[in-house]
Amino acid sequence: MRHAELKHLQGRHMSLVLEASADGPPRWRQIGARLTSVQAFADWPLDAGRALPGGTLASEGPHSVLPCHGMGWFEHPALAGSRPQPGGGDQDWAHHFHLSDWQQQGNRLTLHLLDTVAQLSVRLCYTLAEDCDVLVAHAELENQGALPFRVDWLAALCVPLPASATEVLTYTGLWAAEFQEVRQRLGTGCWRRDNRRGRTSSNSFPGLIVGQDLHEDEGAVWGVHLGWSGNHSLLVESLQDGQRQLQLGAWFAPGEHVLAPGERYRTPTAYLSFSPDGLNGLSANFHQYVRKHLLAWPGQAMTPRPVHLNTWEAVYFDHQLDDLQQLAQAAAEVGVERFVLDDGWFHRRQHDRAALGDWWPDEQKYPDGLSPLIEHVRNLGMQFGLWVEPEMVSPDSELYRQHPEWALQLAGRPLVMGRNQLVLDLSRDAVFDYLFATLDQLLSQYPICYLKWDMNRDLATAGHDGCAAYHAQTEALYRLLGQLRASHPEVEIESCASGGSRADYGILAHAHRIWASDCIDARSRLRIQQGFLRFFPPELMGAHIGASPAHTTGRQHRLDFRAAVTFPGHLGLEMDIRTLSAEERHALKVWISHYKQWRDVLHGGVLQQGSLHDALQWWQVTRDDQCAAILGLYRLDDSCQRHAPVLALSGLDRSLHYRLTLLTEEPVPTGNTSPLFQQMQHTGLVLSGEALCTAGLPIPPMYPESALLIGIQAIDPITQPT
Ligand code: GLA
Repeated sequence: MRHAELKHLQGRHMSLVLEASADGPPRWRQIGARLTSVQAFADWPLDAGRALPGGTLASEGPHSVLPCHGMGWFEHPALAGSRPQPGGGDQDWAHHFHLSDWQQQGNRLTLHLLDTVAQLSVRLCYTLAEDCDVLVAHAELENQGALPFRVDWLAALCVPLPASATEVLTYTGLWAAEFQEVRQRLGTGCWRRDNRRGRTSSNSFPGLIVGQDLHEDEGAVWGVHLGWSGNHSLLVESLQDGQRQLQLGAWFAPGEHVLAPGERYRTPTAYLSFSPDGLNGLSANFHQYVRKHLLAWPGQAMTPRPVHLNTWEAVYFDHQLDDLQQLAQAAAEVGVERFVLDDGWFHRRQHDRAALGDWWPDEQKYPDGLSPLIEHVRNLGMQFGLWVEPEMVSPDSELYRQHPEWALQLAGRPLVMGRNQLVLDLSRDAVFDYLFATLDQLLSQYPICYLKWDMNRDLATAGHDGCAAYHAQTEALYRLLGQLRASHPEVEIESCASGGSRADYGILAHAHRIWASDCIDARSRLRIQQGFLRFFPPELMGAHIGASPAHTTGRQHRLDFRAAVTFPGHLGLEMDIRTLSAEERHALKVWISHYKQWRDVLHGGVLQQGSLHDALQWWQVTRDDQCAAILGLYRLDDSCQRHAPVLALSGLDRSLHYRLTLLTEEPVPTGNTSPLFQQMQHTGLVLSGEALCTAGLPIPPMYPESALLIGIQAIDPITQPT
């Protein structure tokens, strides 16, 4: 028996092993737990261990890196497409690739596959970021034939999962209710989510997590994410050997992607991480990857995340220079560092039924342009940020009146409206040039250091000369953002799309913050943020303290609860703080100072999160050196237990002692407290890391819809943080 020829990429806790095949693409031997050696696989090649039962085709092989239809693979293919013939009919719909060559350089593996009959080549690239156990992959298809080839599907990544991976976690959602976790059991057949809304979508997130009974802190889990802000498909399908296959890639409308002879299609990038330590282990991997490899900060490094004041829920469209200047003054007094002027500032924008596309200051509201406001803000020591929604046009706008043909549309079909607006066809050069010139002019004219880049509707009739142009739209958006960032590298960008509808690793190549949701009701936000934080680190999560009652739900909450819920994100205020009492403003100021004191821990440490029984939710962020951590505890509902549970902390150094102090001043149920809690409230409670991790922290009684934030600092003299 011959020995298997193998390639092995190895991370801290994860391995990828492929085996060469004599008659097809390499096959998967491992994508999961780390192996110290691949000797066990070398001893018996896959073919040698696989009998062919009756009724099985000889070509029904094990799962390869590119299983294709037509030669004996009956499950979902990793590539689908065909070659329309001049006389009618399609050919080259059956594919069979063989390995032309594969090369490994360190932790990067490139496979070159050829189908000489269909005249196609595919290059698969796998790079394992070993410092964070994230596999980064894409596929590239080249049409080597003399006629065009129509691509219906090409998986960016196609991997097997073990039979034990029986639970899938993903999100559903809608405006003001994004990142709603859904857990489903996998059975026989195919689990599939498609997004055809043209933008990332809150309804169908481009990522999922699978494993066996997903736990927060234990068990093998796999997570995947597609770095793409357009249409996508994710699928997990059971195979005949009990395993499953997972595929993800961009979804195409019929005929959307046709490759001319010699042309190539490169898929969006797919990210896969494996952790033996449950959901929190997986999040830690993704967070590290995003921090170290994905984000491109102005000046190459993140600055402490400045406290925002965003004007939307404070004034909506009612912009009056005096009011805004007073608001800025009040904001500066409580410690705000960046003032963001939201929707309502540009030509004839009195409501959401007009003006998108006309990106110059409204002559009535800002007779002298934006300078008087910007100067006022900057004189108060704050940075200035501006809201734009460049991809859109209102039918009632100068731009649309001049160029109705610039909107995405299909001849003979009615224009489909969403929030009274249409989408511009970014793949038209004239549109692209107009948008670049307009934004470039704004950023050159004014000292704007931040754009809140919004995108408030799904794409529908995304037609470009009659053909579907969803994919081209996203590519053009990335080009536009890339060109603007190159011209104005000092500007940070927030990705907003009706709240959190464009949260993905594709947009993060250009953005520095994601507005997780328009819902800033503290209670609803807890759930939204828990989902968001599985894939994105806290410093990217826009989280604002809003008014009470909350504008999207009408629910009322105390300031402490509203403020405590914004931690661990990137803090902002979104209310008319001029209307607050002196007492409330003082409380806000104290909260902002807590945030400033703790943001280096919150925005660089390891996040763990979870839910306890008895309606309690928690998170903890621990600094890498384990000398400081912060714990957030939230009671959602009334307790139905006489005694609240104990929370065993982790991530702390068991050999150190820690002082626990309370940052919140929430009222606690009267006559119902414990000596431990009283100590934490007054002098600070000192406990050993060993005790906190083993015996745990007894949770004190809390009112429903209340929070406790606890600062944890090492007190050993040698390691005490300065
Ligand atoms: C969207 C955003 C909001 C706000 C409004 C302005 O809904 O999500 O935060 O900017 O647009 O129109």
